[in-house]
Amino acid sequence: MSNLQNDLFLRACRREETERTPVWIMRQAGRYLPQYRMIREKADFLTMCKTPELAAQVTLQPVDIIGVDAAIIFSDILVIPEAMGMNLEMHEGKGPMFHNPVRTRDDVSRLKRIDPWKDLKYVMDAVSLAKKELNGRVPLIGFSGSPWTLLTYMVEGKGSKNFSIVKKLIYNYPSLAHEILNKLTEAVADYLSAKIEAGVNAVQIFDTWGGILSPNDFEEFSLQYVAKIISLMKRKKEPVIFFAKGVNYDPTKLASTGADVLGLDWTVDIGKVRNILQGKTALQGNLDPAVLYANKEKIKSEVIKVLESYGCGNGHIFNLGHGILPDVEPENAKALVDFVKKESPRFHVKESLNKGT
Ligand code: CP3
Repeated sequence: MSNLQNDLFLRACRREETERTPVWIMRQAGRYLPQYRMIREKADFLTMCKTPELAAQVTLQPVDIIGVDAAIIFSDILVIPEAMGMNLEMHEGKGPMFHNPVRTRDDVSRLKRIDPWKDLKYVMDAVSLAKKELNGRVPLIGFSGSPWTLLTYMVEGKGSKNFSIVKKLIYNYPSLAHEILNKLTEAVADYLSAKIEAGVNAVQIFDTWGGILSPNDFEEFSLQYVAKIISLMKRKKEPVIFFAKGVNYDPTKLASTGADVLGLDWTVDIGKVRNILQGKTALQGNLDPAVLYANKEKIKSEVIKVLESYGCGNGHIFNLGHGILPDVEPENAKALVDFVKKESPRFHVKESLNKGT
């Protein structure tokens, strides 16, 4: 037994029985919430990440305001490259930027090996504080970017349309790319293990840019490293969620990493993926984030479609297929959570009872 008041999310990750489908929202602590923007007015984004009191405070906001079944620690995937010695800046409206992108062998040799308890102590402090403030209400999720997704930002220096620079690297200097990916694999495994030691109950690996690679390249430059991270991580029962956005060619490959849960984007039919996997992993997803621009009736019918597609039984964590968009009405996010809570119990009625009625 866990000492959590609500452990639906963790039970669903382990495909154990639940009375309804748990729900949380990727990027749930963010700009769509006026309460987040109020804090953000006084502190820039990185200061918020590095001030445990502020990070913990915004981590709890969606639990209080929206009623989600899990909290995710407020931070960013790019704190790892920063800890390795890169210069991270967040630009209003333009996203993250590194002024010293990694392009040459010299740049690679300058990347430091991190000690998460020293170099990212502020994250561990935020985790402990958020855990304390949650006081067992819901589980806390920790996260990291995948080595491949981190590499794209480190090499491009910023977000990109065509990913030309990182693709030039993998096609012209594959061994250099693998050298960086190996360093990142070590860093991510250490970082996620430390977060677990600090108190997170589950972790999610975001491979936001896995989908820009061909199946072969995905296996060579992303998948094998995620599998290695999962095998290296020090954990007890804490589930690992692997979200590889846009990588929909073979869910069995994704499951072969050893992840307990696969996160799905909205371009796949979650029921079909469930059929293919036959219970190998739990599934998380997968409502189109833009559905939250619609009216409540439409949100409700789209929530029901996802629940019906997954069908009866355990092992489903409701989520969006990617992060919540910053201009969504908070009341629509709350409506989504309420609809999942209200509509999902009928998908969890025990089989023996079901048959008799
Ligand atoms: O889910 C949560 O609530 C936890 C917080 C979280 C953030 N970033 C906060 C954030 C998480 C899980 C992330 C992960 C992250 N960061 C990813 C992977 C997830 C995904 O969405 O694919 C990526 C690719 C990043 C890198 C990053 N950080 C980008 C591209 C941006 C700019 C995005 C934008 O909309 O401006 C950020 C900044 C960022 N990270 C914000 C937040 C709340 C906005 C910062 C602000 O307040 O101005």
